[in-house]
Amino acid sequence: MMDLKNFLWGSATASYQCEGAWDLDERVESMWDHYLHEEGLENGDIASDHYHHFEEDIRMMKEGGQRAYRFSLSWPRIIKNKQGEINEKGLAFYHKILDCCHENGIEPFVTIYHWDLPQYWEETGGWLNEEVCTAFAQYAKVCFENFHTKIRKWVTFNEPKWFVCSGYLIGNYPPCIQDVSKTIKAAYHVMYASALGVKEFREGGYEGEIGIVHSFTPVNGVDDRIETKIAMRYADNYCNNWILDTAAKGEIPIDLLSELSKQYDISYMKPEQLKIIKENTVDFLGLNYYSRTLVKPYTSGETTFVVNNSGKAGKGSSKVIVKHWFEQVMHDPNSTYTEWDTEIYPKGLKDGLLEVHQKYGLPIYITENGIGMYEDVTVPQVDDEYRISFMRDHIKAMFEAMEQGANIKGYFAWSSFDLYSWKNGCEKRYGLVAVDFDHDRIRKPKKSYTWYRDMINSNAENLK
Ligand code: NOJ
Repeated sequence: MMDLKNFLWGSATASYQCEGAWDLDERVESMWDHYLHEEGLENGDIASDHYHHFEEDIRMMKEGGQRAYRFSLSWPRIIKNKQGEINEKGLAFYHKILDCCHENGIEPFVTIYHWDLPQYWEETGGWLNEEVCTAFAQYAKVCFENFHTKIRKWVTFNEPKWFVCSGYLIGNYPPCIQDVSKTIKAAYHVMYASALGVKEFREGGYEGEIGIVHSFTPVNGVDDRIETKIAMRYADNYCNNWILDTAAKGEIPIDLLSELSKQYDISYMKPEQLKIIKENTVDFLGLNYYSRTLVKPYTSGETTFVVNNSGKAGKGSSKVIVKHWFEQVMHDPNSTYTEWDTEIYPKGLKDGLLEVHQKYGLPIYITENGIGMYEDVTVPQVDDEYRISFMRDHIKAMFEAMEQGANIKGYFAWSSFDLYSWKNGCEKRYGLVAVDFDHDRIRKPKKSYTWYRDMINSNAENLK
């Protein structure tokens, strides 16, 4: 029988997506502020105004039966410039959040980097500049030193795959580059920076655990042919292995490096850095699960990435081909898809959890899971039955994986409350609690919030 006594049921947010107060209390510009302001796009200047509502938000987590809050620290709120000057007001804000968590019996689960690079580092080349790796380690050290008595669960990076590929390959996130060679370099620097962060944590002898969070899309093939298995390996290297193998085993997949080195210069991957990566692996893996990747062998066409994160529904528009490697199958007639082409596939979570458990043998947290929808939040309570059914099916899939031996220690719904969803803006909503962005950002629990509370309080009896 599964023991859920210490299981961390919670929900998650990220600094830029919820805090607002973008220029308050000496916070400096992040690359996202800069980019969205320059382009005149919908931004997170105010977002959910968590900066002024955090007490209410954390109290609602407690009243919602939740035991943990996953959130991120904002580098531009904490470190003012390249010289590493600390913003005491930024530290004070996070101390208030952490104290509030503890007063409410909520365990903080804290990400050090969730995409908001200070613009002063972006201007030096961002993740293409090796210096930024060292700067990240120094920033992480400031976080450990100041918050170590209040935080036991740390995460270096949120979703390297997603932000590196969106920023340097697909080009729809800042710095809006489309260049394979730069993608490889940025990816390498992020994984090296993550290992440097782990090294700081170990050397400081702090209590607790440190991990990484990955945008996990387990790979399935359309059939059992050997060509399909080769395509699956390429896809798995591209989607998952370069993060999970590197963080958990300290090894960048050698077949991936061998393939890339035929076309690109990777001589900047220095032996002393690879040694740091090898020696500083993580204590746990955080997996954000929304969907799987279904692949078939490459047939024809140039490398193409069309993904829908415009905020507008647009079924059927997505397309992913990596020339000579694989093609992603975007439509399985037996499956269900959201308006944003995300396949709803809970079985992928069970299979993926078992695969990760077998490959790495580390404790796992599901650090994000949820569904984004348009919702009318002017009603007294949003009746989000689709979210309840999505969460129920995925939590059941998680239990099945646990029954078969996967060591899963927590589940975080994305998101705690409605927030700003990057290029998707605010209208694609994921929250358990509605935020009315047009009316003083008032909060109203959705039906899913109550369902989640009852499920946790009943020890998931009705699901098991
Ligand atoms: C992944 C990211 O961590 C988060 O920032 C994003 O908003 C959600 N998934 C939903 O797409």
